[in-house]
Formats: sequence, C-alpha cells, structure tokens
Amino acid sequence: MSYHCVYADEVRMWVFEEVLPTGEKLSEVINKTNENIKYLPGIKLGKNVVADPDLENAVRDANMLVFVTPHQFMEGICRRLVGKIRDDAEAISLIKGMEVKKEGPCMISALISEQLGINSCVLMGANIANEIAVEKFSEATVGYRKDKEIAEKWVQLFNTSYFMVSAVQDVEGVELCGTLKNVVAIGAGFVDGLEMGNNTKAAIMRIGLREMKAFSKLLFPSVKDSTFFESCGVADLITTCLGGRNRKCAEAFARNGGKRSFDELEAEMLQGQKLQGVSTAKEVYEVLNHRGWLELFPLFSTVHKICIGQLPPSAIVEYSEHKPNYS
Ligand code: NAD
Ligand code: 13P
Repeated sequence: MSYHCVYADEVRMWVFEEVLPTGEKLSEVINKTNENIKYLPGIKLGKNVVADPDLENAVRDANMLVFVTPHQFMEGICRRLVGKIRDDAEAISLIKGMEVKKEGPCMISALISEQLGINSCVLMGANIANEIAVEKFSEATVGYRKDKEIAEKWVQLFNTSYFMVSAVQDVEGVELCGTLKNVVAIGAGFVDGLEMGNNTKAAIMRIGLREMKAFSKLLFPSVKDSTFFESCGVADLITTCLGGRNRKCAEAFARNGGKRSFDELEAEMLQGQKLQGVSTAKEVYEVLNHRGWLELFPLFSTVHKICIGQLPPSAIVEYSEHKPNYS
C-alpha cells in the first residue's frame, strides 16, 4: 500500500518563530528554501513540510500529532492546545524528559494525555538527528499503552529503509529509557572531560543502565526488562554517551573544573539547541529525595550534585561506584 493512500500529504510543522540575524523569520526561510537553516542546516526537508508559526493553525483538523520540542516547553504548549485539537486525534511524543509536579513525576506522554484528553504513544531510540537526516541506518522503538493498531500506524508512518521502527507495549519503559539516558550521558561526559578512559566510561554506562532500570521499575512496576534491550534502551544510551550534546557539554564542564555553568556552556556550544540531561538530573533528584530513594541511586544523585556545583566532576567515580541493593 502506498503511503499516499493512508496519510495526508501535507505535514504542517509548528515552528517557534525566531528572527534570524539576516532579519528574516525562520518559518518564512524554511518555506522558501525547504531547509531549517538554524537547527538543521544543509538538509532539504520534503516540499510537503510546511512551517507554520501559528500553533493553533498548525494543529487545526490534524488527527495525528507528533510532539518534538525540548521538554521544558511542553507544559506551556499543552496549555495553549487545550480545546484546540480534534477529539479523535492520536499523539506521539519524541520528547526525552519529564515534569515533576507536586503529585510526583509526570512523563511527557502522560502530560499530553492528561491535558489534552487524547492517547499518546512515544517514539525513542538511538537517533542522533543529524545522522538520521543524512539517512544513515538507525532503529527506533514505539512504546504504546493498549492499542496495537495505533502503534502499527505510527510504525508504518515512521518506518523507512534506513529508519527501522518496532513497537513494544511499554509506554513508560520506553519513555523512561529515553529520558534517563540523558542523565547517564552527563556522567559519561564528565569521564571524558577528566580523560579517565574507555573502561571508566563503560563502567559509568553500565551503572547508569542499572539505575535506569531500577528507577523505571520502582516508578512503574509494569516496565518490562526486555525494553532495555530495544533501541530505546541500551542503543540510545550508547549513542548518546558517544556522540550526543549532553556528553559534549558535560565534557566541557569537567575540563573547566566546573567553573563555567551548564547554562553558559549550552548557550555557547549549542547555539540555541537545548540540553535535556541537566534539568532531567534535577527532576530525577527531586523524585529520589521526595521518595527517600537517594541511597539507591548514587550515580543519578551524583550527576545532579556535580551539575549544581555541590561536588567536583571527579566525584562521578568516587560516589557512583558503591553497590545499592535493589531487592
Ligand atoms: P533542540 O535541543 O535542538 O532545541 C531547539 C528547538 O527548540 C528548536 O526547534 C526551537 O525552535 C525550539 N524552541 C526554542 N525555544 C522554544 C520555546 N520557547 N518554545 C518552544 N520551542 C522552542 O531540540 P531537539 O533536538 O529537536 O529536541 C527536541 C526533543 O527531541 C528533545 O526532547 C530531545 O531530547 C529529543 N531528541 C532529540 C534528538 C537530537 O538528536 N536532536 C534525538 C532524539 C530525540
Ligand atoms: P543529545 O540530546 O545528548 O544530543 O541526545 C540525542 C538523542 O537523544 C539521541 O538519541
């Protein structure tokens, strides 16, 4: 079956409007050149992708909504969308992060579902954007709650010869993998900045994976062990710890002995892109502190304390290595 029989051709893409140094508006440049010259320069988008700076107009009449924006903006975006979307719309979140509210942690797919009253799947994986943009082979995982048919529709939409997508019934497990690996990547970046070598980095990744699994299962006992072996789990952890932005900024932080803040490094090194790991480390720490779980997660706690300057970068090995007992 051709895609055109099933999916509408035009993809409306909401763009957070920015005025470029040339004085032009980003959305107008995207529509004129088919290229996002600020965030993905050199890559031609399909001509069917239409940038729209008006959020309400971008979602009007849409029955499939793809959410992909830094997680810190999602609460405000959802607030603006209340009452503006179709009742039968289906959502999918590609966003790696969580919100922490008074009632406890809230995953972004849950935020979408609760605020907008629609079902939301997630798509996570070892997916560094500029590699996918040049069509290098990668895999991804769709996480769904109940409806396998909806998950299969998303798989069919995203799947290509170079982007292989599979679905698992574990929305929380998939989303927590994507969210928590960013904290581990900060730890891996510290190891790189301190030039501690590959064995140490692998150890931090292993300890991090163990904490990812334990934290996910404590929060949601339904999370499956097998999810950690999907692209969203171990594969995303590896790619982010090797080539991601979280790793890169954490490396610079450690090289500077923690003297330059992450905010400063993010602005200088990422040119408008956003780090997810530092805020996620804080959010995870709040959950651990609130629930009395700090002792169980030495790596997660240490990453946060280093990020806020309470511990030096070298604490990443001194504090993360003791073995908590999860049973
Ligand atoms: P980014 O980190 O490059 O941030 C820039 C984006 O944020 C731009 O699209 C910009 O328009 C938007 N933005 C800036 N200010 C905003 C505001 N006030 N409100 C709304 N949007 C605003 O973004 P990204 O890399 O596309 O990441 C989005 C999500 O996708 C994140 O959760 C990230 O973890 C996830 N993700 C990213 C990659 C990657 O390689 N870039 C891979 C997989 C998943
Ligand atoms: P960074 O945000 O660290 O670049 O990670 C991107 C990612 O999530 C790759 O799957």
